[in-house]
Amino acid sequence: MNSLEILKPDDWHVHFRESPLLEKLVPETSKVFNRAIVMPNLIEPITNSKIASLYKKKILKYSTNNPFFNPLITFYLNDEMSINELVNAFKEKIIFAAKLYPLGATTNSSKGVSKISNMFKIFEKMSEYKIPLLIHGEVNKKEIDVFNREKVFIEDHLTPICKNFPNLKITLEHITTKFAVNFVNESSSNLKASITPHHLILNRTDMLEHKIKPHYYCLPILKKEEDRKALLTAAFNENQKFFLGTDSAPHDVQEKENACGCAGIFNTINSIETLTQLFDDNGMLNSLENFVSRNGAIHYELPFNTQKIKLRKNSSPIKFENFLTIKNLNIKIFRPPFNVFWEIEKVEE
Ligand code: DOR
Ligand code: ZN
Repeated sequence: MNSLEILKPDDWHVHFRESPLLEKLVPETSKVFNRAIVMPNLIEPITNSKIASLYKKKILKYSTNNPFFNPLITFYLNDEMSINELVNAFKEKIIFAAKLYPLGATTNSSKGVSKISNMFKIFEKMSEYKIPLLIHGEVNKKEIDVFNREKVFIEDHLTPICKNFPNLKITLEHITTKFAVNFVNESSSNLKASITPHHLILNRTDMLEHKIKPHYYCLPILKKEEDRKALLTAAFNENQKFFLGTDSAPHDVQEKENACGCAGIFNTINSIETLTQLFDDNGMLNSLENFVSRNGAIHYELPFNTQKIKLRKNSSPIKFENFLTIKNLNIKIFRPPFNVFWEIEKVEE
């Protein structure tokens, strides 16, 4: 197959950051995707309606290349979150969901949730008002090995959340393990998971063998090959429980190539092309549309996009740019360790 048409995709997990990154990052997403769930871990996290409205307004200002683009803003749950603020922001459609970051688990999470059971009152209301709960599913405990933090989170926290709130719509974000795949598959349909392109493509050996690759460092950290294989099987699966969230998370190159490097991979620029190649290489092109354009909408009970994108397979590999440069910032663009022949030929408006 040398050409492919699919419904326009959505990115159910993206980081737009703040100015001056924001104005360059937004159009890169909106030119291909129709909807994006925008993560709230800004330096001043999105914790009230005022910050959320302002942020949404700014995003819309930079997404004029796609009049249909709908940025879905999220609240950053924290110990002081007011239930009323959350419910009102949702009712007024200022926010779409709320994100749970365990305290200190990742970038800008120093104001995250210190004790998850303290959130149960909020979860009760979220369940009542059908506000989706998005979860960074890792414990942040010194005594827990970094490679085990997703599994321990599922056992110690997600399991009780699911038991106590069977009607709460939950997304376990950027899953990385076979354990997580099995857990989601065995859970009710209220729990689903997003998967990133980089966790589908890389394992920890890619990052660590011979020489360390800081641009492959992200959180949750890359896992074993058997985990990557399980994620691939999940993404190809017909049960529609797994969908694309790029977790595109830019950091300046100096912050990545650093004695204390930041976690995050910036993949927005080529995520659909790269995924198309990955699905093609696995003989699973027919599953691509479900993963990037349908499963997320089903989970969030939103209509499918009506427009399409057309992809073409070239005879020679696409040459991607290495960096996105924004003022004095250089963002390294994710490059998969294989050739990508697929190119987006047309995006319907
Ligand atoms: O690698 C990551 N980067 N994982 C996250 O959870 C956050 C993100 C970021 O904001 O940099
Ligand atoms: Zn993220």
